[in-house]
Amino acid sequence: MSDDNSETTGSDEVEVDGTSGFSTDFENADLGDEESNQGLFDDLLSGEPIFENKEVLRPSYTPHELPHRSDQINKMATILVAALRGETPSNILIYGKTGTGKTASAKFVSKELESTSQKYSVPCDVEYINCEVTDTQYRVLAQLANKFIDKNKERIDDRIADLESVLDALEAYDADAKRRRADAADSSDRTGEETASDPFDFVSSEETRAETETTVSETDLSAGDDSSDIDTQSGDLPLETEGSSNESGQPPDSPPAADPELADTGPLDRDETTSDSAPLPPDHPLESTPFGSRSEVEDRIDELEADKDSFEEVPMTGWPTDRVYSVFFDAVDYDERVVVIMLDEIDKLVEKSGDDTLYNLSRMNSELENSRVSIIGISNDLKFTDFLDPRVKSSLGEEEIVFPPYDANQLRDILKHRSEVAFKGNALSDDVIPLCAAFAAQEHGDARRALDLLRTAGELAERSQAETIVEEHVRQAQDKIELDRVVEVVRTLPTQSKLVLFAIILLEKNGVHSINTGEVFNIYKRLCEEIDADVLTQRRVTDLISELDMLGIVNAVVVSKGRYGRTKEISLSVPLEETEAVLLSDSRLSDIDDVQPFVQARFEN
Ligand SMILES: Nc1ncnc2c1ncn2[C@@H]1O[C@H](COP(=O)(O)OP(=O)(O)O)[C@@H](O)[C@H]1O
Ligand SMILES: [Mg+2]
Repeated sequence: MSDDNSETTGSDEVEVDGTSGFSTDFENADLGDEESNQGLFDDLLSGEPIFENKEVLRPSYTPHELPHRSDQINKMATILVAALRGETPSNILIYGKTGTGKTASAKFVSKELESTSQKYSVPCDVEYINCEVTDTQYRVLAQLANKFIDKNKERIDDRIADLESVLDALEAYDADAKRRRADAADSSDRTGEETASDPFDFVSSEETRAETETTVSETDLSAGDDSSDIDTQSGDLPLETEGSSNESGQPPDSPPAADPELADTGPLDRDETTSDSAPLPPDHPLESTPFGSRSEVEDRIDELEADKDSFEEVPMTGWPTDRVYSVFFDAVDYDERVVVIMLDEIDKLVEKSGDDTLYNLSRMNSELENSRVSIIGISNDLKFTDFLDPRVKSSLGEEEIVFPPYDANQLRDILKHRSEVAFKGNALSDDVIPLCAAFAAQEHGDARRALDLLRTAGELAERSQAETIVEEHVRQAQDKIELDRVVEVVRTLPTQSKLVLFAIILLEKNGVHSINTGEVFNIYKRLCEEIDADVLTQRRVTDLISELDMLGIVNAVVVSKGRYGRTKEISLSVPLEETEAVLLSDSRLSDIDDVQPFVQARFEN
C-alpha cells in the first residue's frame, strides 16, 4: 500500500485527482506553473495519515466511556440522585492524584444528571468551576452569579415564550368560537344543536365566561349537572394530581408540564384566580394553566420581564465581595431547584485564597428559601483538608470518594478504547499501547500521561512519515514529554533557584563529579555578584538544592564521609544543554558572560 502511494504521488493522475474539484480550465492554463510548486505539502498529504481523530487523545475531550471508574461513578450517582427527587444531595469530596479520571468522571456524571433532570422536568442545575483558573473567592462567586443569572434569564425567556403561546392559543380559540357561533346561527334556529358549539363559548375574558356559565354543566364530564354548585377545585383535580407528582419525591412516570409557570405549582394559585368563576372546559387553552384570564397571563409576562431586567451581572473585579455574594445568592434562590456546584482543583483555591469561599457556600442552605445547594469538591492533594476550618471540613467531606492510581493493565484498557477512535486501522504496532501504559503507570498511574504519550508517539511517527507507530516512537515521546516538563519547571523557577541550578550546570560542564554543597555555593556566590543579585546564606542554598531535588531536576544524595561528617553529593538529573539553554533564555542570567573564570573558583578554594 505504501508503495502504491509513493509511486502515484508524483504522477499526473494524482495531480488531476487533486484538482478535480476545480474547473478544467485551471488544469490547462496553469500546468506551466507546476515547476513553481516544490511539493512542500504534497509529501505530507500523500502519506496515509496515522490519525483518524486526534482530538479524542487531547485532555479537553470528555470520553463517553470511562473504564475502571464505574465504582466511583456509581457512588457519585447514588449520592446525587437525591437531586432528582428534589432533595439536597450530600456534599462530596473527591480525592486522587492527577490523571486518575476525577474531572472526566465528574463531568460525565453531571452531564447525565442534567439530562435526566430535563427528561423528568425536575429543576436541577450543575455548575462546573475550575479553581486553578478561577482562583479567588470574588471570581468564583462572580462566575457562579453570572452563570445563574444567565440560566434564570433563559428560563424566564422559555416561560415567556410558553405564556405567549398560551395567548396565541387563546386568540385562536376565541376566533374559532366566534366562527362557530356564527356558523351555528346560520345553520340552525338555535335548537338542540346548540350544545355542539357551547364549549367554544368559553373565551378568555371574565365577562364572556359569566355570560355562558349556564352551559358549563352540559359539557362538564367530571361533574355533570351539579358542577356549578361544587367547589371549582373538583374541576382541577386531574391537573393537580399530575402537577403534584413533582413534589411526591419520585420522578414522575410521565413528565408533568415542563414549565412550572404552566403547572399547578406556579406562583399564581389556581384556587385564587378561578374561585369566583366557573371551571373551564377541558379543551380551553387556560384549562391546564393556573391562569383564569388573558389579563392574568399578560400580567405574569410583565412580571417576568421585570424580573429579567432586575438581574445585574457581576463585573469581574471591583465590587465588595459581600455584594457579589448577595447577587449570587439571589440568583440561585430565584427558582425552586437543586443546584450542584462542582469545584475542580479545589486545593488550588484554598491554597491561594483560603477557605472563605467554601465556608460561605457550605452555609448557604440554611438561608436559601427556594433552592438547595450541594457542593462537589475535587482535589489532587489528599491532605488539603488539613488547612480547612473544621466546620468546612466536616460539611464538605460528608461523602468522600477516592480515585486510586490506575495500574498498567487499566491504563491499557483506557488507551485501547481511545485508540480505536483516534487512529487509522493499522497505525499501531502491538507493543505501543503496553509501553505507553507501562511508562504512565510509573508516573503514578496517570491516564493523562498515557494519552499524551500515545498522541505524541503518533505525532512523531507522522512527522517521520512512518506508516505505523512503533516502540521507538513511544520512547522518543517519553523523552520529549519529560523534556517539555523540565523546560517548563526550569523556566518558572525563581531567579535564586535558577542561579543555584546554573552553578551546578557549570560545575558538571567542567567535568566535576560528586559536587558538594560548598562548591555549588562558591560558584553561586560569584554568579550573584556578576548580576548584582542578593547572595543567600549557604543554609538557604542547601534548601534550594533540596527543592530542585524534589522537582526532579537534580539528584542530591547524602553520603557519609566517616569522621568528616555527612555531605551531599549533587548531580544533574536533566539533560544539560537543554536546561542550560532554558536558563540562559532568562534575561537576567543571559547577562552572565565568560563563565570559565567562575568555575576556576572551585579550585582556588
Ligand atoms: N477511566 C478512564 N477512561 C478513559 N479516559 C480516562 C479515564 N480516566 C482518565 N481518562 C482520561 O485521562 C485524562 C485525565 O483525566 P482527568 O479526569 O482529567 O484526570 P484528573 O482530573 O484526575 O486529573 C483525560 O483525558 C481523561 O479523559
Ligand atoms: Mg482534573
